[in-house]
Parts: sequence; structure tokens; C-alpha cells
Amino acid sequence: MEQGCEKCVEQRLKKETNEILKNYSKQKDNLIAILNDIQEKYGYIPKQSQIEISNYLSIPMAEIYGVITFYSRFTTTPKGKYNISVCMGTACFVKGSQSLLERAKEKLNIKSGQTTQDGLFSIDELRCVGACGLAPVFMVNDEVYGNATVKQLEQVVDDIIKKEKN
Ligand code: FES
Repeated sequence: MEQGCEKCVEQRLKKETNEILKNYSKQKDNLIAILNDIQEKYGYIPKQSQIEISNYLSIPMAEIYGVITFYSRFTTTPKGKYNISVCMGTACFVKGSQSLLERAKEKLNIKSGQTTQDGLFSIDELRCVGACGLAPVFMVNDEVYGNATVKQLEQVVDDIIKKEKN
């Protein structure tokens, strides 16, 4: 695998990012759309991709970083092996999804958009995942947990920790 080779990873990111960039003209207005594509592809915006975008659109790195940090949907941190996404859409919010999010943050000792140091967990927030009838909802990677409770979320996290220890 490429993982041990930093240069190889850099090269791959460079190549793949430029493939995405080819779909866009060099207009600065394309920045958000490009960032969306990169975020979708990697689950975060790698530094190397920021460099390629900066060169392509002739936008300073600081400006790109400013845009990434302004929008909560963008992150510069890779997601954890288990990404906990709490739905903060209206139906889930009124049914208490805020307390799910708060408990996840407290339990894992990270903020939304961050990843634990061991790379096991990350947390983010979603807007309506289309399962409003099951509100409140949280997801762990692609798995949806409906009618969720704080207790259930704690249990799911504890089960993952236990599984990973074995
Ligand atoms: S608002 Fe959460 S699934 Fe629709």
C-alpha cells in the first residue's frame, strides 16, 4: 500500500485533485464547487489538494483555508474509522438530537468536525438524512440509528471500543 510513502500519497493526491480541477475553468468563483468535490471524494480537504487548487485558481493558500474554515461542511481533518454523524435537521432537532451530539462530543472528548487522536472516531453534523419519521437520527458511517437515545449512542460507541480492543 502507499500509506508508508508520504511522497506517493502526495503524488496521488496531486494527480487526483488535478483530475477534478480539469472539470472547472480557472475562475475563482469555482472554489466552493471544487472544495465540495474534494470533500466528497476524501471526506476532508487534504493539504496537497489545497496547494493544487491554490495554483490552479491563483488564490492564496490563506484565502482557501479561510473558506474551508468558514463553512462547517468542509474539514481539513481526515474522518475517523467510525464517523458519527448526528442529524441536526429540523425534525431531529426538535426531537432532541442536540443532546445526542453533545453526549458524543463529551464522551469522545472532541468537537464536531474533529477526529480522535487514535483515528478511531470522528463526529460531524448532518442536515436531514431523509429519515425524519425515525427522528432523532444518528449514523455511524452508513448505518442509520433511528428513534435514537443518548443511552443508545453511548452503547454503540462502547461496543465499537470493545470490538476494536479485541
Ligand atoms: S431531520 Fe433528521 S432525518 Fe430528517
